[in-house]
Amino acid sequence: MDYASASAAAERKAKKTQHAKGKKTARERIASLLDEDSFVEFGRFHGGDVTQGFLGAAVITGFGEIDGRKVALYVQDFSIQGGTLGKVEGVKICSLLDKAMAMRIPVISILDSGGARIQEGVQGLSEYGRIFRRSCKASGMIPQISLILGPSAGGAVYSPALTDFVIMTRENSHMFVTGPDVVRAVTGEDVSSADLGGAELHNVQSGVAHYLGEDEEDAFGYVRSLLTYLPSHCDEMPPSYTYKPSAADEKAAAAVKDLVPDNSRQPYNMVDVVESLVDHGEFVQVQEHFAPSIIIGFACINGESVGIVADQPMHNAGTLDVDSSEKAARFVRCCDAFGLPVVTLVDVPGYRPGADQEQAGIIRRGAKLIFAYANATVPLVTITLRKAYGGAYIVMGSKSIGADFAYAWPDAEIAVMGADGAVSILNRREIKAAGPAPAAMAAKAKELAEEYAAQNINPNLSVATGELDGIISPEGTRQAIAESLEVLRTKDRTHSGLKRHNNGPL
Ligand code: HXC
Repeated sequence: MDYASASAAAERKAKKTQHAKGKKTARERIASLLDEDSFVEFGRFHGGDVTQGFLGAAVITGFGEIDGRKVALYVQDFSIQGGTLGKVEGVKICSLLDKAMAMRIPVISILDSGGARIQEGVQGLSEYGRIFRRSCKASGMIPQISLILGPSAGGAVYSPALTDFVIMTRENSHMFVTGPDVVRAVTGEDVSSADLGGAELHNVQSGVAHYLGEDEEDAFGYVRSLLTYLPSHCDEMPPSYTYKPSAADEKAAAAVKDLVPDNSRQPYNMVDVVESLVDHGEFVQVQEHFAPSIIIGFACINGESVGIVADQPMHNAGTLDVDSSEKAARFVRCCDAFGLPVVTLVDVPGYRPGADQEQAGIIRRGAKLIFAYANATVPLVTITLRKAYGGAYIVMGSKSIGADFAYAWPDAEIAVMGADGAVSILNRREIKAAGPAPAAMAAKAKELAEEYAAQNINPNLSVATGELDGIISPEGTRQAIAESLEVLRTKDRTHSGLKRHNNGPL
């Protein structure tokens, strides 16, 4: 059999096995993701023997273009030995990662695999080790995006886990360290693949995934969207475009106040606020379903890519918790690695109180967000819309931990704590003296709380101490952000080089 007819036969076989499972073949996926006819493969027949009709390895490697930008791509081919990874697959993937780092271009991987090839013994495991090492070396240098379009099982899950973005599809996409059969054998627990490692679980609960694609096309669309905001490598400026002032954007920005209720306890959807402040209302959320009390994602302001971090009062009043802290921390670090300014919109009542949060490590995990902001070298612009209390005020990109510009809306409540809590500590004796009748004590507490609120719960102290650069009107918010970013465009980002690396909480 010659190479051409063997290739055609292999694709026919691949279509049969993959289509039966509702999945595309590896080559169909490449064609769907990349610009037309842009794929250049290398090592196509590596590991094969055409005389036996066996064409090559269970992974396809090469380069292509997405919207005219070069990317490196490896795609596991489930129709060959379940897409498993042995020596040849490891060599091919490592070679691709080395080339991508040398060329300084993003790497996209499409995973659909049974993991390490059992027949090859520990060789397959070692190949994963080599891939992990390269992925870690590439981290922060070039964007790495993983699409899980089939199983990703065993320790092999760590290869996507080490990348910047993990995208799953609603059907057919599974990630687990130990599959249902192993779980059943070891613990006796009967659990489905979906409950153990389905796309919904990893997007909503575990936070492993960054996007829940409805299908493969949707997942590819998200990859294309992400790349419109990310540079090809850490020393390149993020993509930008020539922004033409738009009447629709001006109208949306002028009406932003209407989206935010005056009563600071009343919820609203912060996504609407973000959309009204960014170019053409386009906001690409990351981890939309996970830790929803904070929202993160990419947008443009006057044509420049930015990362947005914002409290979401619609979920748990926008309180910070273990998951939302980690979600925002990783995102801030991602933006910092790839040179995207971070715009933070604050409306936070504080940390979520309770034993469950303390037990889950809010001290250790919450510290990650401080670490991310404090170490960021990209421009940081922070706006407090309605309230910022206590530690959460400081942690959410405040000036004291590194914001270059920080502003607040005129009625913003900024204080150590709410009025009721404050008077119960400061005026305990006074309130008691108003008793013993509970109604009298309550009336005294109310009066003192009102006094405290009038004097202390406002942005004035922060303005006076320089912790805020000014009070801005809601309708002037977009302009204030845009002007700040323009000023900060040439911010010096060189490192001191005084230490090997930091030792932040992980
Ligand atoms: C060798 C494997 C394999 C493996 C699948 N196959 N996994 N061959 N090593 N790890 C083969 C199957 O024998 C089959 O071959 C073909 O691939 C397709 O697999 P099926 O089982 O028929 O497909 P499906 O029913 O869709 O199930 C897919 C699957 C299941 C869920 C992935 O195969 C599975 O559970 N595999 C084992 C997953 C796993 O535990 N992997 C961990 C490996 S250890 P034929 O010839 O019949 O077509 C690991 C550690 C990495 O990965 C460590 C890094 C630190």
